[in-house]
Amino acid sequence: MKIDCTIDGKTLTLSLNSDKPLSLILRENTGDDAVVNHCNGAMCGLCTVLVDGKAMLSCMVPAFEIRGKTVTTFDSFRKTKNMKDIEKAYESVGSFPCQDCYASRSLIFESLIDEGITDPEEILKELSIIKCPCMDPEDEINIVLKGIEARRKRNVRRTQFA
Ligand code: FES
Repeated sequence: MKIDCTIDGKTLTLSLNSDKPLSLILRENTGDDAVVNHCNGAMCGLCTVLVDGKAMLSCMVPAFEIRGKTVTTFDSFRKTKNMKDIEKAYESVGSFPCQDCYASRSLIFESLIDEGITDPEEILKELSIIKCPCMDPEDEINIVLKGIEARRKRNVRRTQFA
């Protein structure tokens, strides 16, 4: 089937088997080898991408679900101002994800910050798709709260100088 979607800012029409997982599409059809199938089935959380701004496990998203959607991988997200908010939050809390889960965890933080989620239970539930145990749950909650604060300040500055 033909699928129109946007991946990392590029508008694409892909010819795909409708069940092909997004993680494989990224690797085989768009040449993004940074997103790797680590476990092939919701066991590690290390294949996370943003689909229309929401963090999702790319190995669990079939091709037909990305029709008309915008997919963002960490490779393009890392260059954005939104990532700067998250880096500031890491620094301010004094806690950083390890090398293995840095990309996926940062994308989940982005999804939570973008939605303005402050409920600790909800934050930890969303982050629980990452199985890497490198971060303290209390730090994770504080990173989201600091990230929301940084985003708000930046948006206020933007409207003031618009
Ligand atoms: S590859 Fe492990 S959760 Fe997707």
